[in-house]
Amino acid sequence: MKRLALLTSGGDAPGMNAAIRAIVLASHYFDVQPLGYRHGFNGLLEQEYRHLDTEDVYNIIQRGGTILKSARCQPFTTQEGAQLAARNLNEAKVDGLIIIGGDGSFRGAEHLSRYWQGNIIGLPGTIDNDINGTDATIGYYTAIDTALESIDKVRDTADAFERIFLIEVMGRHAGFIGLSAGVCSGAEQVLLPELYPDGLPDPQELADHIRRAQKIRGKCSYIMVMSENIWPGGATDLANELQTRTGIECRPVILGHVQRGGSPVSLDRMLASKLGAYAVEAMIAGKSGIMIGERNQQLVEVPLQQSWNKSKLLDPYLVKIQRQVFDLVKNGNNY
Ligand code: F6P
Repeated sequence: MKRLALLTSGGDAPGMNAAIRAIVLASHYFDVQPLGYRHGFNGLLEQEYRHLDTEDVYNIIQRGGTILKSARCQPFTTQEGAQLAARNLNEAKVDGLIIIGGDGSFRGAEHLSRYWQGNIIGLPGTIDNDINGTDATIGYYTAIDTALESIDKVRDTADAFERIFLIEVMGRHAGFIGLSAGVCSGAEQVLLPELYPDGLPDPQELADHIRRAQKIRGKCSYIMVMSENIWPGGATDLANELQTRTGIECRPVILGHVQRGGSPVSLDRMLASKLGAYAVEAMIAGKSGIMIGERNQQLVEVPLQQSWNKSKLLDPYLVKIQRQVFDLVKNGNNY
């Protein structure tokens, strides 16, 4: 292994820079030359790369975003796109490629492997945490804290005015951020896609719960954390629906891309540093077609396809205790 390349793809996540740093430092340590491709898979098509020196990654461990930039790349998904990428990688004399991203990026990696003979390793980098085979993805812990900080602030004003707020968090089609932020913020209700596999939540049940809370406690604040994509029209439309059904003002807050930014928390920096360094060692050992993850504090090698063809489960105990909070109110308990 003389030359390895790396790129970041899909939604950026805090800690991607820490992973880039770890890869570059480990590469230099083991005398391998690292190349950084910019703008995700687009960089492979456009030959947009440069050699990365240790000084390029100085002072980036604490920075959100990605110094390599990120993108989603439609042309790459075609056969011609992957063939062009393969030719370009060969021309640049790349022996192995490390892709930091989510499941879409890993599917891209698999697609490329049909046309390129070099080694390919994936690192899970997404705030959504929806990658099977690793306890956490790079960026997930920071996104929880970012969402939580905002929800706590909304609670302050909700409490002052005794208002109802519906707070929409990211996660694409997974409820990891929603569940963690909901439990940690003491939300009265949490709506997650995994809890409604066959359809939508029942709006009357949601409305009844709000009215019940206000009946027991008197006028009070009420926080509902909801995952994006769980209700058509999102938090705005559900807030309108619940306002109509309860006769009580319901306000939507959509946290949006703020959850993708910010300085990574220590857990994300540690995870990224370990996965990045290990990916280089795995490359040198000739490994390919795998994702590096971490389970129970052990670094693991997972076949790339397993990262997306099996759904990752929410923590059942967190789901249970959140449900208990909901039920306490439902059963008339002024907790
Ligand atoms: O995958 C990360 C993520 O932030 C999801 O939570 C969200 O659904 C999506 O990306 C948003 O993508 P974009 O920034 O392209 O709108």
